[in-house]
Amino acid sequence: MKKQMLIYVGIICVGLTFLAIGSKPVVSQTTTSDDPHYEYMDNETCGSCHEEKLHDYQSSMMGKTPNDKVFQQFYAAVNAKGEADGIGFRAFKPKGESDCASCHTPDVVLDAGHELALEDAIKKGSNGISCDYCHTIKDVKVIYNPKTQRYDTRLWKMVTRARGEVKRGPLKDAKSPFHQTKFSPIHTKSEFCAACHNNQEHLLSLDTYDSWKKAFDKGVVKQTCQQCHMPTGGKDRPIAIGGPVRPGSMIHRHFFHGGHNADMVKKAAVMKAKAFSDEHGLTVHVDVTNSGTGHTFPGAATLRNVIVVIDAMDANGKPLKHIGGKKELLPPLAGIGKSARDFGGDVGAMFARPFATKKGKAPTGGFNADHILFDTRIRPQETAHRVFHFSKPDSGHAVARVRLIYRWAFKPLVDKKGWKMDDIVIADQKLEL
Ligand code: HEC
Ligand code: HEC
Ligand code: HEC
Ligand code: HEC
Ligand code: HEC
Repeated sequence: MKKQMLIYVGIICVGLTFLAIGSKPVVSQTTTSDDPHYEYMDNETCGSCHEEKLHDYQSSMMGKTPNDKVFQQFYAAVNAKGEADGIGFRAFKPKGESDCASCHTPDVVLDAGHELALEDAIKKGSNGISCDYCHTIKDVKVIYNPKTQRYDTRLWKMVTRARGEVKRGPLKDAKSPFHQTKFSPIHTKSEFCAACHNNQEHLLSLDTYDSWKKAFDKGVVKQTCQQCHMPTGGKDRPIAIGGPVRPGSMIHRHFFHGGHNADMVKKAAVMKAKAFSDEHGLTVHVDVTNSGTGHTFPGAATLRNVIVVIDAMDANGKPLKHIGGKKELLPPLAGIGKSARDFGGDVGAMFARPFATKKGKAPTGGFNADHILFDTRIRPQETAHRVFHFSKPDSGHAVARVRLIYRWAFKPLVDKKGWKMDDIVIADQKLEL
């Protein structure tokens, strides 16, 4: 608080100087420049007044990183028990810096101005992606070369900070007893999120911003990232203790829900299934429409996947013979074990973008991938149409059950790692003929 007071006094003095010399009081240096000695405050400090924001943010994946176990274990190439398993970044590059720290611990990477080893970033006391990190960002520049069709996603090239007492956000008239405030247009734009939700490696391994931008420019998507991931609404209330009551329509929840949240995932897509029967057999038609995201479905992280599973049987529950050929079967990435959730080889379809190494190892991360095994993700407002063929039941009617399931990681990887993952069932439809 002492430092705070000093700065307030400093600002008042600068203000008085302006008045004294009769010029317009422009924003003083202290409020706009970046203070390299500034120490980020922790989320709890901000949360002592911004309780709702802290509560929301603590439940998000961004609020957890770099302590998110899945991230750490995929980075360190260890399983849930902490045993080395050769799957992940450190198996590929055992020592030295990497880009992983950039987006997962941006504060200390920007201090360094170059890539760091995650271990070092954590040792340097990174606060992860903190309230104070985001709210002292001054600008984000998206750097894209249309000739090479490549982005430059190095964080220190994209982000300009203004570390200090001024908290930047979407309000034009905010007054806080604890910090200064400044209206910041970049906080209301998708480009703000682009700093980390695009990752140009050999491949564009995260392409959420790119995919959103293409759809937005075409008018297919009308909302920004914030409008879907930081929803407004609820009753009128103050934004902070000591602040005025504001309309709910101005207040942004800090959930950042994504692939780990069932309610969010269920908003993403709708499925329509129909079955027909003729002398050749039973045909099941499935349409999956990406009706609710602003980017591909599933999203960017190369481990995410969506699967359609078809079970067709006769009136007695006896499975109907599948006659549609291999392309109507799910790949091993849908699960290779013996459990009821292992769908590899079953009738269905997968929507995903798994990365693979030269030797065909999949799934892998962007760090050692050299090709994309396939990209069947569904673009915004587009519909994927799939048809499946079965023989007719010997007698009686046929029943087809069609499920649409979302997984935040490929099941064989989840099994090897010993991670906990529930299937999110987006739709489960029964068709009788
Ligand atoms: C350009 C920024 C950026 C870089 C660089 C980056 N990540 Fe990430 N990482 C993200 C974002 C954003 C997500 C969430 C993506 C999504 O859900 O679409 C994520 C998600 C993940 C996840 C999934 C976590 C979960 O719980 O589902 C893992 C694992 C991961 N990253 C590992 C790594 C590793 C290992 C590296 C370095 C080789 C790395 N990341 C480099 C931005 C980055
Ligand atoms: C002592 C209470 C208090 C603390 C602690 C506090 N704030 Fe605030 N903050 C406020 C009040 C009050 C407002 C104004 C609310 C309004 O006008 O509706 C505000 C406004 C803001 C705004 C809006 C700025 C704008 O122009 O859009 C941001 C962003 C913000 N705070 C971030 C933070 C961050 C980050 C921290 C921690 C480093 C923090 N606050 C700590 C009380 C506090
Ligand atoms: C400093 C980098 C950074 C910025 C800026 C950033 N993100 Fe993220 N985001 C991440 C990382 C890293 C993760 C993954 C964390 C993990 O799982 O360990 C993530 C995760 C997410 C997730 C959850 C993904 C999932 O599948 O659960 C959502 C949604 C999200 N971010 C949305 C946004 C939005 C919207 C913005 C802009 C307002 C934004 N992010 C800005 C780095 C960032
Ligand atoms: C990943 C970056 C990010 C993080 C982390 C983050 N915010 Fe925000 N915050 C934003 C953005 C972006 C907006 C503006 C959204 C818009 O206007 O579209 C915002 C808006 C706000 C506002 C203005 C009021 C409102 O509801 O719009 C306050 C206050 C605020 N955040 C406080 C916090 C606090 C406190 C934390 C930590 C608990 C936090 N933020 C964490 C990006 C972030
Ligand atoms: C029209 C609403 C909408 C817009 C706009 C939108 N999203 Fe999403 N997003 C969703 C929904 C719904 C999901 C859940 C489905 C999913 O996880 O694939 C999602 C999922 C995500 C995930 C997790 C994806 C995964 O499967 O790995 C991330 C990260 C994310 N969004 C970031 C962003 C960013 C960054 C932007 C802006 C560039 C953005 N979103 C724009 C609706 C939206």
